[in-house]
Amino acid sequence: MSREIPENSLTDEAAFKVEQEKLGRVWTFLGLMADLRKDNDWFRATLGGRSVFVQRFGEEVAGFENVCPHRFFPLRTSDKGNGPVICGFHHWHYDRKGQVVGIPLCKEMYGVTPREVPARLTPLEIAVCGSLVFGRFATADQTESLEAFLGAGWPILAAISTLPPTLHAFERDVAANWRLMMSITLDDYHNVAVHHRANPKSSDFQYWRFGLHSAHAVGKRHTLESMSEECRIDSRRHRPSGYKLFNIFPNLVVGLFKARPYWYAVVQQYIPVSAARSKSRGWFYCTIFPPADRKVLDRLLRPIPDLVRARVIRYFAERTGNEDDAACERLQEVAAQAGRHPRLGKYETRVGWFQEAYDHTIRTQPLLGS
Ligand code: FES
Ligand SMILES: [Fe+2]
Repeated sequence: MSREIPENSLTDEAAFKVEQEKLGRVWTFLGLMADLRKDNDWFRATLGGRSVFVQRFGEEVAGFENVCPHRFFPLRTSDKGNGPVICGFHHWHYDRKGQVVGIPLCKEMYGVTPREVPARLTPLEIAVCGSLVFGRFATADQTESLEAFLGAGWPILAAISTLPPTLHAFERDVAANWRLMMSITLDDYHNVAVHHRANPKSSDFQYWRFGLHSAHAVGKRHTLESMSEECRIDSRRHRPSGYKLFNIFPNLVVGLFKARPYWYAVVQQYIPVSAARSKSRGWFYCTIFPPADRKVLDRLLRPIPDLVRARVIRYFAERTGNEDDAACERLQEVAAQAGRHPRLGKYETRVGWFQEAYDHTIRTQPLLGS
């Protein structure tokens, strides 16, 4: 098998590993600033097929590979927490730069002071858009900022991810490759067969493409550029024109939807676990956008509290999510037999764009360690 083009990364673990290493070079969503509110708060994530963690140090946020360079114990052994970076195996202590600063019995063991021991955590490059924390394993010649990577999507994602105090989390394990799961969110053709509801009419929505990313956008009042500009100028006054679904390459989906009269958002990620397994996790919450309260029904529904609204949203989101997951698990069962050239129709335009972004990334990004 070629180390360069992972043809069968849907099923082959070696090809999946190559794919993940290359994707680790691309800005990837790792978690939320809501989990980094206090000094020394940290969360664990996955990048490039590797366990990593992100931590707040005062005003800074830094990320590292989650492996101690002493004897390779994981520094973080749960999903999130708070505390200095001290390894649980022999208590080596690392600072905000990933430099070892404390080693028990150091003189006796190594004959030098901790600062003289050449042990350093492998750093990630970290950048934040709104409340969304992204990271990558950058090479010296990779200079594209997160802002440039997200393009017109940057102000929109920053606005949508302005978080309220209460977030509603969800998580599911799915026996399907992450690309199948990403692709089903880009597909507007499966509603009848999978969800037993009508497909959207093409006159009612537009597709937006920006960089490696794309969106499904309902509402004629906005173009990608006008929505982006409104969010940039004053995000609290932006009035969404309708449902939006942003797919941020490689594996993040950010949706904006109306839960009358409020605008809610969902931030969802498909985390690759192995070729045939993924973790789908996310949060939904009420956004800062002004409620749409021109209609009588909107005004009547307004007093319903967030917790009640969240139960209704969760019920419908889980039903749809379970149907999508089940479809992806069926796709996975025959993924080894899948051809390279699906016959994509108009309502699958974004699936094609995603495939182009994926092929481009696999072709151009170096492996980790190269
Ligand atoms: S493996 Fe981390 S201190 Fe030994
Ligand atoms: Fe679906």
